[in-house]
Amino acid sequence: MEEPLTIEGGHPLQGRVRISGAKNASLVIMAATVMVPGETILENVPCIRDVEVLADILECLGARVTRLEDGNLSIYVPDDIKVETPYELAKKLRASNLLLGSLLGKKREARICLPGGCDIGSRPMDLHLKGLAALGAEVRLEHGFVEARAGKLVGNRVYLDFPSVGATENIMMLAALTPGYTVIENAAKEPEIVDLANFLNAVGGKIRGAGTDLIRIEGVAELKATRYAVIPDRIEAGTYMTAAVATGGDVLVENVIPTHLYPIMAKLQETGAVIREENGGLRVQAGAEILPVDIKTLPYPGFPTDLQSQMMALLSVARGTSVIVENVFENRFRMVDEIKRMGARIKVEGHTAVVEGVPRLYGARVKATDLRAGAALAIAALMAEGVTEIENPYYIYRGYENFKSKLRNLGARVI
Ligand code: UD1
Repeated sequence: MEEPLTIEGGHPLQGRVRISGAKNASLVIMAATVMVPGETILENVPCIRDVEVLADILECLGARVTRLEDGNLSIYVPDDIKVETPYELAKKLRASNLLLGSLLGKKREARICLPGGCDIGSRPMDLHLKGLAALGAEVRLEHGFVEARAGKLVGNRVYLDFPSVGATENIMMLAALTPGYTVIENAAKEPEIVDLANFLNAVGGKIRGAGTDLIRIEGVAELKATRYAVIPDRIEAGTYMTAAVATGGDVLVENVIPTHLYPIMAKLQETGAVIREENGGLRVQAGAEILPVDIKTLPYPGFPTDLQSQMMALLSVARGTSVIVENVFENRFRMVDEIKRMGARIKVEGHTAVVEGVPRLYGARVKATDLRAGAALAIAALMAEGVTEIENPYYIYRGYENFKSKLRNLGARVI
């Protein structure tokens, strides 16, 4: 059992925080390296648990993953990489399902253990499997594994019923090494998709249109290793921006791509915060009070589901009532019962949460139920009167690099 994360609230965050490389871009690009023989060097891959688990999975497949002295990640992929992910590791990480497209592309077969990860909804893989099958893969679900064989692969049109991030990524990876043209319609448009496309193009792939809902991929015969820098983490940035506003703080958030942050900036500004570009970063200053706002989570460029819980924590002390609609993952309200233990007044009805602002939260012992819920409880703890102990803090460390030290540097009392 890991020590709870203990935070004494009531101290405004002040100063600068440097944002790490994006977790979700790092994970998918790491998965994509199995298609690239030789040594790929990745810059800006954060030191977080999810990255460690995926690195362990890659090693089990026969790759050599090394954190270099300069902090970059070296991934050496031999020709005879194995095609089956190990159950014990894969069940810890949802993103291990991204090895399906890459292994199938490279080895023409894959056996992927149905993945685990945060429990935020049923998270099926039907769209991934439909897409891979459209390119000619024979896919079977058996004994908790997805088994896929290449059959005769050839590019095709794939329409996604929903712009799933993971499905778009798996199809892009397989298509990169599939003869002919593939077109993904209603593709996900997240910045991490664009980063994957940029990586695949850097290693010799031919992908156009990433970042729009129509991605065109011309298959190539092989990919060649290179060096690539991962984009900054917009969700980590949004988390510190929200924490700055929640604590009445003033924080310069450095190493960000501001356009990726427009959805969260717009909502924080509606709550009364002042945000402007300064010295290449974003300076976030809390307003005199927190105004209520309504939020609907949507695929990018809508408001990200990965920042919904953090906003809920902030709005729990707004001057009025906010309505939050979660359209992406059905279990993202599991943290409501925890934050209510700190005095929040929130009613959940299906996909909708009604958050009635209270004057203040109080420290309590609470439990992180997933990664973003953990971050949200940390924000609640930073605002609360007294001390909060967050159990299961490992959820937070799955996705936030140096979480405690970054908060301490901003003046938080993390005990
Ligand atoms: C990725 C991110 C996650 C983020 C999410 C939405 C990674 C490692 N994780 O997750 O942090 O919250 O995007 O931005 O990048 N769905 C289906 N069938 C499928 C696939 C998905 O019904 O085959 C549903 C899911 O259950 C969910 C919704 O589509 O309700 C969105 O899922 P998706 O976009 O695929 O998210 P992930 O790729 O799992």
